[in-house]
Amino acid sequence: MSNGIANFIQWVMTMPTDNDARTATYSPGLDGVLAGETALCHVDEGEGGLRYRGYAVSDLAGRARFEEVAYLLFFGKLPTRSELQDFTTQFAAGCMLPGPVEAFLGVVPPGAHPMDILRTSVSLLGMADPDASDCSHDANLRKAIRLMGQIPLVIATAYRLINGKAPVRPQADLSFAENILYLLTDRRDGETTKAMAQVLDVSLTLYAEHEFNASTFSARVTASTMTDMHSAITSAIGTLKGPLHGGANEAVAEMFCEIETAERAEQWVRESLAKKQRIMGFGHRVLKKGDSRSAIIQQHAESLGRICYDHRWYEIAATIDRVVQQEKGLYPNLDFYTAVAYLLMGIPRELYTPVFVCSRITGWCAHVIEQQDHNRLIRPRALYTGPAAREYLPFDLRS
Ligand code: CMC
Repeated sequence: MSNGIANFIQWVMTMPTDNDARTATYSPGLDGVLAGETALCHVDEGEGGLRYRGYAVSDLAGRARFEEVAYLLFFGKLPTRSELQDFTTQFAAGCMLPGPVEAFLGVVPPGAHPMDILRTSVSLLGMADPDASDCSHDANLRKAIRLMGQIPLVIATAYRLINGKAPVRPQADLSFAENILYLLTDRRDGETTKAMAQVLDVSLTLYAEHEFNASTFSARVTASTMTDMHSAITSAIGTLKGPLHGGANEAVAEMFCEIETAERAEQWVRESLAKKQRIMGFGHRVLKKGDSRSAIIQQHAESLGRICYDHRWYEIAATIDRVVQQEKGLYPNLDFYTAVAYLLMGIPRELYTPVFVCSRITGWCAHVIEQQDHNRLIRPRALYTGPAAREYLPFDLRS
């Protein structure tokens, strides 16, 4: 063998393989990285907007009931009337809490955040689920439908017990959104309640799914080890809780309440920006030119304000929106005007992120099913930034 060929073989053998972290491009925060495939949802900053399984969310919101959207995410098609009927009967039947979960809700530490209560409850629900560790497609669907019924009940029961109120059961004649409003606020009848439930339904549709956001990604990473669905959902709840993700809707409402009046809003935002503080409910990792869901919920929040004869929250929000766009070029995300709508509905502030879960549970479960149906373990590489290789020294030789 000539020297040239030998050198070439030597060079090829020392080349990093595709599997080597040195060959990969690194993007902090995985910004712009395609981390997997999905048939569930397409996020498009352009005219396409957000689509669930091909349907524009702007077409679904307010026209399809949230239950139809959940069916679409789980089964891949919009339901016929009878399929929807079967589906609602199925999750209504699963709308009960096993003994250990009820017992836990009776003893949660005072002051516990509802997202922490929910995270632990879902973990407990997993221990009591009849399909617990079965990761087959059908078992995962059954678990997803049960979770969709159980989650609002966990949130409402915990909240009511903590506040000295008797737990109530979901009502068979109410829709999913109407039941959430009833369980959390006792509202059931009347035109205003009907209008509130319609807006809540819209917000649930908008919150249902958003491809590889942080909580969904953590659910998929967990699911990719072929562990059980409840473990994946527990990971997702812990991830959603953070103020940079789902916790933002609660943080936005806190900001509105601190500002109190529209007259104070402009100065408040300018001072916060001068102090380099982040304004909650603005910005998005992917949607840099604006969040199409925000315009939809904004319109509903404004009209709900008119129905409730209460314009205060919308006016505060609109002022903040104007100043932040002007000063930072940042647009409101879905959490911003949703907080206006939830304030008008009288939903307790600490339950805003749990209400987000009532909706996103559908997207999470659909992703867990999709991941486990076509699984490959998610295991990326890291760029090493630590010390260079060094030798172990026994105690006597260390300084
Ligand atoms: N207010 C003020 N400045 C902001 C904001 C904001 N809301 N968002 C981003 N910036 C600034 C940030 O300070 C930084 O400025 P500089 O370059 O001078 O340091 C620049 O914009 C880029 O920030 P980033 O954190 O690198 O941007 P990102 O794309 O990684 O962040 C985000 C996305 C959602 C974490 C961020 O916009 C944010 O913290 N927003 C407020 C929290 C929020 O509303 N979260 C809900 C997100 S959408 C729904 C969901 O996922 O649940």
